[in-house]
Amino acid sequence: MLQNKINKLKKEKDVVILAHNYQIPEVQDVADMIGDSLKLARYASQVQNKIILFCGVHFMAETAAIINPHKKVLIPDLEAGCSLSNSITIDELRNWKKEHPGAITVGYVNTTAEIKSELDYCCTSSNAVGIVNSIPRNKDILFLPDMFLGSYVSRLTNRQNMFIWAGECHVHAGITSRDIIKKLNNSSNTELMIHPECGCTTSILYDLAVGDYDDHDVKVLSTEGMMTRAKISSAKQFVVATETGILYKLKKQNPNKTFVPASEKAECQYMKMITAQKVYESLLDEKYEVKVPYHISNKAKIPIQRMLSIQ
Ligand code: 13P
Ligand code: SF4
Repeated sequence: MLQNKINKLKKEKDVVILAHNYQIPEVQDVADMIGDSLKLARYASQVQNKIILFCGVHFMAETAAIINPHKKVLIPDLEAGCSLSNSITIDELRNWKKEHPGAITVGYVNTTAEIKSELDYCCTSSNAVGIVNSIPRNKDILFLPDMFLGSYVSRLTNRQNMFIWAGECHVHAGITSRDIIKKLNNSSNTELMIHPECGCTTSILYDLAVGDYDDHDVKVLSTEGMMTRAKISSAKQFVVATETGILYKLKKQNPNKTFVPASEKAECQYMKMITAQKVYESLLDEKYEVKVPYHISNKAKIPIQRMLSIQ
C-alpha cells in the first residue's frame, strides 16, 4: 500500500512531511504535521529531521528553505504556485516603495522569496493584526499583496495610514456574500467562519456593523483558527468560507458537528496538485528541491523571523 511505502521511506531517509490544511485527504493522512501557514513555518523552524517534504504551495516551501539553510526542502510538484503571490512583481514593489519613502512594508506570507527580501515584516492571516499593531502608529504602512486581508486589518487596527496593494487570491475572491447568505438561510443556529482573504469579508464586516447576520455568530479566522474555533464553539453547525480542503480535518476532528462549505467551487487547483503518488516519488528521488539563492534568503529571513516572533 502506498501509505506504508511512504511511511517506510520517511523513516529511512529521516524526512518530516508538512501539509497545509487545504491538502487532499490522502496527503493529509501521510503528514506528520498539518496546519496553516504560520503553524507550519513555526514547526519547520524547529524540526530536527534531515529533509522537510512540504505538501503545500511553492512560497511555503521557500519559507521553510529560508529558515532551514542546512536542510533539504522538497516539494512534490514545482507547479504548485499561488495566484495571490503572483499578484505583485519585484519591480512593482520597488516602484511602490519609491513612491512612499519611509513607509514600513508588511507582506503576507503568500509572496515569493524575492518579494520577502524587500519587506520589513512578513505576516500570515493569524498574526497580521498583531504585526500591524506592533508598528508605531505614525509610520505609513504598505500592505501587500492581499487587498481583502489588508482592508480587514486596517479596519481592525483602525489605521488610516495603511496603503493596500490590489492583489487577491482567485479562490477566496470567488466566495461571495450571496453564497454565504444562501447557506446561512438554510439553517438556524449556525456559526459562520470566514477567512480574511475572502472578497466578502469586507462587506460582511460592514453588514455586521449595521446589524445584519444578527442570528449568526461570525468569526474571521485563519485556517488553523477555524480548527481551534470548531472545537471550542458550542455551535453544532458551521458555514465555512475558505478553500474546501479544510473540511476533511474539520469533520475528522469534530465528528458530531456539521460543516458546510460557503461555496463548493472554492478549490485551489495549486493545492490539489500534490497527491500521495507524487509524495512517494518525491521521497524516492528526493525531488524537487526548493533552493533560495543566498543573496535573497539572507534578506528574506529578517521579515520571516519577525513574523515567527510576533503572535
Ligand atoms: P492560512 O492557512 O495561513 O490561513 O492561509 C490560507 C491560504 O490561502 C494559504 O495559501
Ligand atoms: Fe494561493 Fe489562494 Fe491557493 Fe491559498 S488558496 S495557495 S492564496 S491561490
